[in-house]
Amino acid sequence: MNYPQQRILIIGGTSGMGLAAARSLGQLGAEVMLAGRSQAHLDAALASIEGRAAGYVADFSDPASLAALFERVGRIDHLVLAASANPAWGPFASTPASALRAALEGKLIGYWQSLQAALPHLRRDGSVVMLTGAASRTAMPGTAGLAAVNGAITQMAQTLAKELAPLRVNVVSPGLVDTPAYDGLPAPAKAGMFDAAAASLPVGRTGTSEDVAQAIVYMIGNGFTTGAVLDVDGGARMAA
Ligand SMILES: NC(=O)c1ccc[n+]([C@@H]2O[C@H](COP(=O)([O-])OP(=O)(O)OC[C@H]3O[C@@H](n4cnc5c(N)ncnc54)[C@H](OP(=O)(O)O)[C@@H]3O)[C@@H](O)[C@H]2O)c1
Repeated sequence: MNYPQQRILIIGGTSGMGLAAARSLGQLGAEVMLAGRSQAHLDAALASIEGRAAGYVADFSDPASLAALFERVGRIDHLVLAASANPAWGPFASTPASALRAALEGKLIGYWQSLQAALPHLRRDGSVVMLTGAASRTAMPGTAGLAAVNGAITQMAQTLAKELAPLRVNVVSPGLVDTPAYDGLPAPAKAGMFDAAAASLPVGRTGTSEDVAQAIVYMIGNGFTTGAVLDVDGGARMAA
């Protein structure tokens, strides 16, 4: 792929895996556009990217905000959906339906309406990459809410790979990755969770944002891959 000719929008590009993908794509010469809700996050992210990059404040839960985003961004070749908010962690018996509803709004609905808003601006044979999560690829007690949201995105993506062809639609499914998503956890709880996960995984460690960025770059660049799910989870599907 000739990256310097590609315009790539990453919604959720100001942090974690979306930002790591933006950095990698910037280094390859692509024109990278980031979207997120916070101007401060955009400013910090843009300062860390080499190459051509721009930032746009947008909230993917709001159709008017998405319409304004695409009005400003214009034509794009690739769309990466990496945002999420309000994940519904926790045991099924004590997780209220309201938490699942918020998680669906914070990810599945956001992906859905982002892609709808993007379609008139997206190159017909460009690509979409959606980040899901390993909880939807194996049975992990305490993650039914994550499984429901990410499983729905995976199934939707595979249908869209046919319905929207020749647009390529692919999924990257990360395992546990140390990103700012976990900044709200007390340090000992976070360390305990990451240590236990690392010990359970065939690779003996948890993931980095760069591990997942490599997969996003692959999905954008490989013109013969569509309707695919790439698991970047350290073998979580095989862990006990
Ligand atoms: N980290 C993990 O262990 C893990 C594991 C499996 C799957 N995942 C999935 O991988 C993806 C990336 O995760 P991450 O850990 O890299 O996330 P992160 O560091 O928490 O970053 C989330 C990004 O989404 C943006 N965002 C959140 N809500 C938004 C909204 N309504 N509209 C627009 N932008 C919004 C945030 O920017 P603002 O706050 O400025 O809006 C930020 O750029 C997510 O879909 C997550 O569910 C993560």
